Amino acid sequence: MSQLPFSQSCENNKDPILKVIKRAFAQSSHVLEIGTGSAQHAAYFARYLPHLIWQTSDQEAYLEGIEMRLAQSNIPNLRDPIALDVTKQWPLSKSETIDAIFTANTLHIMSKEMVEAFFCGIGKYLAPKGQLCIYGPFNYGGEYSSESNARFDIWLKERDHRSAIRNIEWIDALAKKHELKFCADHPMPANNRLLHLTKI
Ligand SMILES: C[S@@+](CC[C@H](N)C(=O)[O-])C[C@H]1O[C@@H](n2cnc3c(N)ncnc32)[C@H](O)[C@@H]1O
Repeated sequence: MSQLPFSQSCENNKDPILKVIKRAFAQSSHVLEIGTGSAQHAAYFARYLPHLIWQTSDQEAYLEGIEMRLAQSNIPNLRDPIALDVTKQWPLSKSETIDAIFTANTLHIMSKEMVEAFFCGIGKYLAPKGQLCIYGPFNYGGEYSSESNARFDIWLKERDHRSAIRNIEWIDALAKKHELKFCADHPMPANNRLLHLTKI
């Protein structure tokens, strides 16, 4: 891989997300990011939230691109990626306290089983009173929140029939099952949301 992975949407949404996580993670110290992707978010958030250790992670195929961006960024509180597929054993030790988890644009890419595994892992590894922030599009009462999200969902399913914009009610049920409660559901630009939950 010679070119850095790049996502225009990360450039567009990084400031609105930073504004919310700055408050949500104000008392946190160790964030695990799931599905780091291009690592644009990681590099930006770690720079502006220097009190946090920002641990990147993704599936094996993404690690090289993440390492390239991190090597260019030179940010001391940003950690090299760990290979983390939510459906496999998470490579974390119980002695390492993770008091915050961040993920963006992942739950609509993952299959239902993967989303269930995501919450199961969070139930296991996020410390009590820990913070969880999830960015992406969601449906409410089984309805799309915009025409563009409806079109996006069709595109997602054509690409991979297991992907879909998730219903917020299902996310809430999974969260409850794993001892998480909703703190806030922030509207974001381009019909996205930032869900803020805390571990009981
Ligand atoms: C659309 S990209 C989002 C990347 C980045 N967070 C962003 O906002 O641009 C979806 C991400 O979800 C990750 N992902 C999909 N399935 C996963 C799984 N089973 N375990 C962990 N990550 C997964 C992909 O590897 C990819 O990094």
